[in-house]
Amino acid sequence: MKKEFKFTYDYFNSVDELSPVQQKAIKLAKEALKQAYAPYSNFRVGAALVLEDETYVLGSNQENKAYPSGLCAERVALFSYGAMKNTSEIKVLGIVGGDFMKDEKETFSPCGSCRQVMAEYADNQKEPFEIVLLNNDGSCVVFESIHHLLPFIFGSPQQSL
Ligand code: THU
Repeated sequence: MKKEFKFTYDYFNSVDELSPVQQKAIKLAKEALKQAYAPYSNFRVGAALVLEDETYVLGSNQENKAYPSGLCAERVALFSYGAMKNTSEIKVLGIVGGDFMKDEKETFSPCGSCRQVMAEYADNQKEPFEIVLLNNDGSCVVFESIHHLLPFIFGSPQQSL
């Protein structure tokens, strides 16, 4: 028997077409990117979690001379959220990045390790959170759940094969 996995995502020509909370996530992620510490890769990434109570948590990639010791922007944001005594759920994760992406068609998409971490935080909530990415040409994409970006993930009760 063949089974199929399909998902849809939203594409917007510009940030202005996003919902107010999605716009806020992208605006904050751009702010977060300014604090990126990426002297080794020169690839800065910013991430912002907008919570149900309208507060937010920022993250940016933080590198280190001992390369594996650095951490991606998304995980900096998610782990700081986890470290706070916060009962408000994550509504939207906005991510911006890509100093190397000179080509307009290039697009930033989060790495696999960050996706795994996103899934665990999403599964610990009542509702999944949206993931909003800003493309190099100013367009945006919105994924309604991390399980669309990383299907059949390790250890998730949300999807079975
Ligand atoms: N990076 C992120 O911050 N997020 C990702 O999803 C992928 C990569 C960072 C890690 C490193 O500091 C730089 O981008 C180059 O890989």
